[in-house]
Amino acid sequence: MLTTPATRALRASATSNLSKNAVRSMATVQDAPPVQRQRGLQDQDRIFQNLYGHHGADLKSAMKYGDWYKTKEMILKGHDWLISEIKASGLRGRGGAGFPSGMKWSFMNFKDWDKDTKPRYLVVNADEGEPGTCKDREIMRKDPHKLVEGCLVAGRAMNCSAAYIYIRGEFYHEATVLQRAIQEAYKAGLIGKNACGSGYDFDIFVHRGMGAYVCGEETSLIESLEGKPGKPRLKPPFPAAVGLFGCPSTVANVETIAVAPTIIRRGANWFNSFGRERNAGTKLFCISGHVNNPCTVEEEMSIPLKELIDKHAGGVIGGWDNLKAIIPGGSSTPILPKKICDEQLMDFDALKDSQSGLGTAAVIVMDQSTDVVRAISRLSKFYHHESCGQCTPCREGSKWTDQIMKRFEAGTARAREIDMMQELTKQVEGHTICALGEAFAWPIQGLIRHFRPELEARIQSHAKKAGGEALAGGWQHDAGKHGMLISPGQ
Ligand SMILES: Cc1cc2nc3c(=O)[nH]c(=O)nc-3n(C[C@H](O)[C@H](O)[C@H](O)COP(=O)(O)O)c2cc1C
Ligand code: SF4
Repeated sequence: MLTTPATRALRASATSNLSKNAVRSMATVQDAPPVQRQRGLQDQDRIFQNLYGHHGADLKSAMKYGDWYKTKEMILKGHDWLISEIKASGLRGRGGAGFPSGMKWSFMNFKDWDKDTKPRYLVVNADEGEPGTCKDREIMRKDPHKLVEGCLVAGRAMNCSAAYIYIRGEFYHEATVLQRAIQEAYKAGLIGKNACGSGYDFDIFVHRGMGAYVCGEETSLIESLEGKPGKPRLKPPFPAAVGLFGCPSTVANVETIAVAPTIIRRGANWFNSFGRERNAGTKLFCISGHVNNPCTVEEEMSIPLKELIDKHAGGVIGGWDNLKAIIPGGSSTPILPKKICDEQLMDFDALKDSQSGLGTAAVIVMDQSTDVVRAISRLSKFYHHESCGQCTPCREGSKWTDQIMKRFEAGTARAREIDMMQELTKQVEGHTICALGEAFAWPIQGLIRHFRPELEARIQSHAKKAGGEALAGGWQHDAGKHGMLISPGQ
C-alpha cells in the first residue's frame, strides 16, 4: 500500500528511474530487463501527429503523415497475426477499464466462428461522456483517418463485416468531419467492397447518440444502437457472443482503435518499449482545472504526474505547492491529495496501488482555492442524474449520496453520517448491473479517505454557528422546538 515505507521507496525508485536514467521498471516488485530509451516521448514517437490541427483532416494530409500506408499488406496478414501483434504490443483498452485489447479482440474468433453465418460487428465507442475527458473528440476532429483505418484493421483482426461508430450527439462537428473522412475512404476504395484491394469487404457507419452518460457503457450503447432506451444489459452473455443485433460484437474505445494501425505498422516492440511492464505504450492525457495551460497531450504511459503537468500544462496555477488534490482519470476515479500526487506515476497499476485509477486519463487539477467537498458533491449530482434506474442500489443510492453530499457541503450533516456514507457506497459497489454504481461510489470514498478532517470541520463549524449539530435529514438542531416534525428519538 502507498503508506508503507517499502512502497514509498519502490514508487520513488520507479519515479526516479523514469525521470532520471530513463530505464523502464516493472509494475511488480522485480525489475524488468532494462530497456534503454530516450527521456520523455519524442515527437516522432507520437501516434497522433495532428492532435493540434496543424494540418488538414483530409485523406491527402493523413496519407502525408503516414496513415493508410501499406494497409493492404497489413490486413492480408490475417486475423491471427494481427491479434498476436496487438497482444505483443501490450495495448490495454483506452475506454477506462484497461482490459488487454489483444485478448478482448481474440474472443471474437471463437471455435468455429467461421461456420456461423451471422454478421459480426466492431462497435466503436465515441460517446466520451466521462467528465474531464476530451481525447476521443480530438482524434475525430483532427485525425479522423486514424480511426477509419483503425476500424478496418481491428475489424479485419476480429473478422467483422462492418463497424458502427456510436458518437455522442453533441459532437456535431466531429461527426461531420468523421463522416467526410469515411466518404473519402470509400471513394478511394480503402473501405467498402474489396477494401484496399484486399478482397475483404468492410463497411463503416456513423450513428449519433443523444448524450446520455450511461450510453457509453458497452451494452447500453448496443441497446441504444438497436433503437432501444440505453439501459445496460446483464452479462453474460458478453457482446462477443451476443452483441449488436444479436450478433458477435466487440465494443472498443476510439483511442484504442485509432492507435492500432500505427502499432501494427511500427511493430509491437516499438509500442511496448514505452511505459512500464503491463502498462505499455503512449497515451492521450487530458489535463484540465487549475493549470496554466489546460491541454490534451500524447505522452508516454507511466510518466510521473508532476512531470506531465509541469511539462505540458504549464504547471499548477500558483506553483506545485499550491496544489490541493487531483482526480487522475476522469470523474469516476477517486481523488488524490497532493502528498500522493508528488510521487504518482500515471499508469493503470500505479494508480490502482494508490486506490485510484487511470480511467480515461483525464487529469483534473484542483489548487488550494478548491472546495473539494463541493467538487465531489457536484459529481454526485451528475451521477444521480445519469443513473438509468434499473438497479435499486444505483437508483436509490445515487439519490441518497447526492442528498447527503449536499448536506456535507453545507455542514448540515451529522458527523456519524460520514461512516454511514462510506458504508452506503460499499453496499453499492459490485452490486449493480453496470459500473455506474462504482462510478458514483468511488469519488465519495476517495473524499472520505483523504479529506475526512475537512468534512468534520465543516460540520463542526456549522454546529458552532447554528448553536448545535444538525439533526438527521439536515434539520436544524432546534427544529423540534419550532414545531417541525422531526424523526423520533432526536
Ligand atoms: C457508465 C459508463 C460509461 C462509459 N462511458 C464510456 C465512454 O464514453 N467511452 C468509452 O470508450 N468507454 C466508456 N465506458 C466503458 C465501456 O463500457 C467499455 O468498457 C469500453 O468502451 C471498452 O473499450 P476499450 O476496450 O477500448 O477500453 C463506460 C462504462 C460505463 C460503466
Ligand atoms: S448501475 Fe445504475 S446506470 Fe448501471 S444499470 Fe444499474 S441503475 Fe442503470
